[in-house]
Amino acid sequence: MEKLIISGGTPLKGTVHISGSKNSALPIIAATLLTAEPCVIRGVPNLSDIDTMVRILKFLGVEASFDAKHGILHICAEHPLGVAPYEWVRKMRASVCLLGPLLARLKKTKVSLPGGCVIGDRPIDLHIKGLRRLGAQISVENGYVYAQCKELVGTDVFLCGRFGSTVLGTANILMAASLAKGTTTIESAACEPEVEDLANFLNKMGAKIKGAGSHIIEVEGVKQLHGAEHTVISDRIEAGTFMVAAAITGGDIEIKGAHAEHLCAMRDKLEESGTEIQRTNGSIRVRGRGNLTSTDVITMPYPGFPTDMQAQMSALMTLTPGISVITEKVFPNRFMHLSEMARLGANVALEGNSAIIKGVKHLSGAPVMASDLRASAGLVLAGLAAGGETEVNRIYHVDRGYERIDAKLRALGANIERIDE
Ligand code: EPZ
Repeated sequence: MEKLIISGGTPLKGTVHISGSKNSALPIIAATLLTAEPCVIRGVPNLSDIDTMVRILKFLGVEASFDAKHGILHICAEHPLGVAPYEWVRKMRASVCLLGPLLARLKKTKVSLPGGCVIGDRPIDLHIKGLRRLGAQISVENGYVYAQCKELVGTDVFLCGRFGSTVLGTANILMAASLAKGTTTIESAACEPEVEDLANFLNKMGAKIKGAGSHIIEVEGVKQLHGAEHTVISDRIEAGTFMVAAAITGGDIEIKGAHAEHLCAMRDKLEESGTEIQRTNGSIRVRGRGNLTSTDVITMPYPGFPTDMQAQMSALMTLTPGISVITEKVFPNRFMHLSEMARLGANVALEGNSAIIKGVKHLSGAPVMASDLRASAGLVLAGLAAGGETEVNRIYHVDRGYERIDAKLRALGANIERIDE
C-alpha cells in the first residue's frame, strides 16, 4: 500500500495548474448514457474515481476509451445494460447518478444502494422522491433500487431535504427530466457549479434546460438526445486545497485555471484569516502572511463554504492563534480527520457538529491515517506545515480526487515522497 512521507516546514512557492473537476466529470460521464451517439469529454482528470466510473460504464456494455495523458474520454453508449451491481456501486457512491439516465434511456433499471459512508449518512430518498414525481415506479428490495416507467412525465419536483439541496439528486432529476414528456421544474435545486456544468453538457446534447446554477431549474423534455463534446470545468476543491497550502505554509502560490467566482466563500474566509488573495485573469494568487487570525466557518450548500473544504480549513485552524470554530451542516459527522490531526499536536474538541480548534504554535510530524478523500487532503496540508516527518497512510483515498497531488506539491517546493511498502 502506498503512503506519503512529508517533511514539513517549507513555504510553498510557484505555480500550480488545476485539473478538471472530478465532481463535474462523474455525472457528465453518466449523462452519456442518455444517447446512442458518441460523446467526447475533455478535461477529465486522471483519478481512481473516474477510472471506476468508466469501468462501470464498460461493464454496462458502453464503449469507452480514456486518453489519461490528455484528459480526453471518448464514449458511446449504443446498447447499455440496465443493471449497476453492488460490487461496483459500493466502490463509489457517485455511481448512484446512473439511476436517472438509465431509467430515462431504458425505462427499466436496477441500481444497487451504495451502503455506508465514512463521512456520515448518505440517504438517496430525495433521488427516489424526484424520480417518483416524474412517474417512475420504484421499489427498494435486497439492497437494490428497482425503477421502471412507461414514460417519464414532467412536473414540479421539490428537492430540499433536512440538510438542504442535493447535488447528485439534482443531477439525477436533470438527466431523467431531459427525456421526460413535458416540462419539469426542479425547485430547491442544488446551485453547485458542477450542476450547471452538467446542464451545459446536456444542452449541448439537445436538452432544453434553463436556470441551472439557481434554485429553480426548468427542463423541457425532448424525445431524444444526441452526441456532444464538452470540456469539464476546473476543480474548485483542488484549487481551494492549494489556496490553503499557501496559507498554511506561509507560501506564495499562483493557482492557474481556477475559477475565482466558484471560490467566493473560500476567498472570503481565507482573507478574513489574514491571507492575501489576488484575482487575475484565469488564476488566483495566494500569499500566506504568517500572522493568521482565527475565524468561524459554517459549511453549507453552494455558494456557502463547501463541506469538501472543511478538513483542509480545519488544518489551517490548528495553527491559527486563538479559538476557531468550524460547524458542519452538510455532513454533520464528517470529522474523522480531527483525531488524526490531534496526533500531530492539534488542540481540537468536538461539540455536536462543531469542531472547536485552539490554535497551537506548531504541529509535529507523526504517522497518520487517511479516512476519506478530503480528510486525507487535510492531513497532507497539516503535514506540510508540521515540523519533522509526517507519514500519511492509506493515500488511495487522496488519489480518488487529486490528480498527482504529490508531484504538484513537489513542484512548489514541498518535501513530499510517495513510497510503496
Ligand atoms: C456531492 O455528493 C459530492 N459528490 C460530495 O463530494 C459533496 O460532499 C456533496 O455533494 C455536498 O457538496 C459528488 O459530486 C460526486 P448531497 P452528494 O446529496 O450529491 C443529504 C467529495 O469529497 N441528502 O448534495 O451525494 C445528505 O445526507 C464528495 O468529493 C438527503 O438527505 O451529496 C447530505 O446531508 C464527498 N437525501 C446533504 O443532503 C438525499 O436523497 C447533501 O448531500 C440526498 C442527500
